[in-house]
Amino acid sequence: MAAVSEDTASTCTELAPAKINLFLHVVGRRDDGYHLLESLVAFASVGDRVSIEPLPGTTSSATLSVTGRFADMIGGDPGDNLAIRATAALRGMAGTSGDILVRLEKNLPVAAGVGGGSADAAATLIALNRFWNLGLDRDALAAIGLSLGADVPACLHRSAVMMQGIGEELATVPMPSGLGVVLVNPLLPLPTPAVFADFRSFGHFAPVGRFDWQSTRDRQGWLDQLGRTCNSLEPPARRLLPRISNILDTLSQTGDCLLARMSGSGATCFGLFADWQTAARRADQLSGAHPEWWVAPGRLL
Ligand code: C5P
Repeated sequence: MAAVSEDTASTCTELAPAKINLFLHVVGRRDDGYHLLESLVAFASVGDRVSIEPLPGTTSSATLSVTGRFADMIGGDPGDNLAIRATAALRGMAGTSGDILVRLEKNLPVAAGVGGGSADAAATLIALNRFWNLGLDRDALAAIGLSLGADVPACLHRSAVMMQGIGEELATVPMPSGLGVVLVNPLLPLPTPAVFADFRSFGHFAPVGRFDWQSTRDRQGWLDQLGRTCNSLEPPARRLLPRISNILDTLSQTGDCLLARMSGSGATCFGLFADWQTAARRADQLSGAHPEWWVAPGRLL
């Protein structure tokens, strides 16, 4: 596995790990229409990669260069990209100057329920904090991150957190170590607003705080408790994109799969496995049987 942070004399590089909602309960709705969530969020060793390097010039510009399997899905104005918006937001706060190049290796599918742009923004903030020697702590970065997207503060953690509110209330939680994960995405679009709209028509709010993640340290106890949770957005997503049901059925019938579920508002689903080696073996089989899906194994961080 490549390291999470990798620097050279002039370049700062960060992994932007895939964010996985191990469970996600919709527990209410704010006056502004945003849904209140309760979610156990973990991160995988598979992700995008963000590198910051200096460019000659003093116009305080940030140039975006995108490579990787899903580079083509990053379109439009680079100024709208969350990594570039993160550089502008941090620059605005810290008053730094100098031109920079932001290299984004887009390995994760876009708008897929695994963090994507939010993970890239978080990785950019962490890399720039080092690149510009700002010495900001995570709370300061999270305040900037929240202005960019509700998931960005969680993505700054890169280890398991309980998330409440719309993503701004975070508490670090222990997790069993060594678990493997397989991410599967059908490579079909599933817009987040449509999933929430379907939930509003047919879903029910879940009760808050029924589970205690702080004291669940043994693997089986943790898995048992996780099995009693759900992703409230899974039924809407299955209705809108029935392929998700195929993926979840396939994952749960895959040998050794401990739990199969959808992440975020989809369409990416995940299977948990006892260890990384098992996940990698099962991912090979799945991608052989379903070349039309994106299948990626990793470790839970
Ligand atoms: O956070 P993101 O920009 O992906 O959200 C897209 C849309 O999903 C929002 O405009 C809103 O309609 C819905 N959403 C929501 N409650 C949340 C997150 C997203 O209703 N907590």
